[in-house]
Amino acid sequence: MKTKSLYIHTIGCQMNVYDAEKMAAGLQALHYLPAASAEEADLILLNTCAIREKAEQKVFSYLGRLAPLKSRNPRLIVAVGGCVAQQEGRRILGRMPHVDLVFGTHAIGRLPALVDKIERERCRLVDVAMTAGFMETDPGTATVIPGGVTRFVTIMQGCDNYCTYCVVPYVRGREASRAPERIVAEIEALVAAGVREVTLLGQNVNSYGLKEGLCSFGELLARVDAVPGLARIRFTTSHPKDLSEPLIQAFGRLPKLCNHIHLPVQSGADRVLKKMNRRYTRAEYLDKVQRLRQIRPDIAITSDFIVGFPGETAADFDQTLDLIRQVDFDGVFAFMYSDRPTAPAARFADKVPTAEKKRRLQALLALQDLNSSRKNQSLIGTVQRILVDGAAQKPGDGPLEDCPPGPQWVGRTTTNRIVHFSAADDPAGLAPIYPGLLLDVRIENAFAHSLRGSPLECQAPAAGAKGEQSHAA
Ligand code: 5AD
Ligand code: SF4
Repeated sequence: MKTKSLYIHTIGCQMNVYDAEKMAAGLQALHYLPAASAEEADLILLNTCAIREKAEQKVFSYLGRLAPLKSRNPRLIVAVGGCVAQQEGRRILGRMPHVDLVFGTHAIGRLPALVDKIERERCRLVDVAMTAGFMETDPGTATVIPGGVTRFVTIMQGCDNYCTYCVVPYVRGREASRAPERIVAEIEALVAAGVREVTLLGQNVNSYGLKEGLCSFGELLARVDAVPGLARIRFTTSHPKDLSEPLIQAFGRLPKLCNHIHLPVQSGADRVLKKMNRRYTRAEYLDKVQRLRQIRPDIAITSDFIVGFPGETAADFDQTLDLIRQVDFDGVFAFMYSDRPTAPAARFADKVPTAEKKRRLQALLALQDLNSSRKNQSLIGTVQRILVDGAAQKPGDGPLEDCPPGPQWVGRTTTNRIVHFSAADDPAGLAPIYPGLLLDVRIENAFAHSLRGSPLECQAPAAGAKGEQSHAA
């Protein structure tokens, strides 16, 4: 059977990255192998994101750019999957005549059959049924999509929280968890293929398994922690209202669990949190932060913020800035509120003008950049253990002229800080085996979004080096 080539372009979150791997794994049964570019492909999959207006605009502009490829090669199949596909369904076929297939977030398992039908019948198809849950690929993506030091593993899909600004419950459906055995087996296969770190993904990992009566998220973490050969575990995302005491305790107990939690707060004002339907108060959030720091004093805490939610006043926004000062976050993502047609907040009054949203976003990011730079500066001179990811694509955010000669590498600390280093001086000749290595690096330079350092004499990582628990792998 002749092999065909597949090009996947993914927009959006980590879950979409994982979904793309599942799509590619499924399509191997139809003899599709990765293409180097969209121009060379027989099948182009666009994996889409609907979380904010901007992401959705990106989808349609990318799709528009594919039209000339289709006119040059009418046998090309263009497929649109993910959250915009789920949301827009058949409307995409009307708007984009060169699209052959629209498949929703629950149709990934059916993708091979859909593509096969299009190949044979040259028809146009839409499948946005929210039916089957996960596509459980056997033997999983590990053997099919090789490589990588760090990989994502989705443990649950959907969301039952209905924050008023959010489209996720409408495009990803109700919360549903995978069986722990499947998750652990997938991680074991990934580790056997060389993966050293996994990030467990869910919209709200804290409620993992509750509905189905599976084990708790804390128990799942303990089972993953026991996988031999795995060095590090991360997870995202945690809803603050569900961050339970047993999960906080897991940070004190599990050696492979990284020293970082992403805990999106969205706003520092109770009035806004209530309108967002977040179901926690500022005081409750601060309380959880305090508990986490009691259990792991040097835990890195990052967060998400929405600025300019309908009705957000200047005083509300000041409360957000005040919360940022009070928590002293290690990093934040911040977004200007945008209406999502299916989410209730689209119909809320008192929309904040775009210029004011921009001003608030800049003020928030400027404050956090100061925080992040100060925190990173305080690491200069310390030794940080990093998990080396691979060759650096970019030299980092420091001045180029400060960059030492030689090949550039990149890894992350357990607190999720990016660290660049150069391998010019490598007396022990370790560079070829850098990817996946836990390496101790002395930090010499610090910027708002990354660090730069030199590996210690390339000996085996010292036990107890700051920033990594000594018993981690
Ligand atoms: N407008 C702006 N930001 C949003 N987010 C989710 N929905 C919206 C929206 N309608 C942000 C939240 C969430 C992150 C993934 O995206 O901060 O945590
Ligand atoms: Fe969206 Fe809220 Fe669910 Fe997060 S918890 S996915 S913000 S509805």
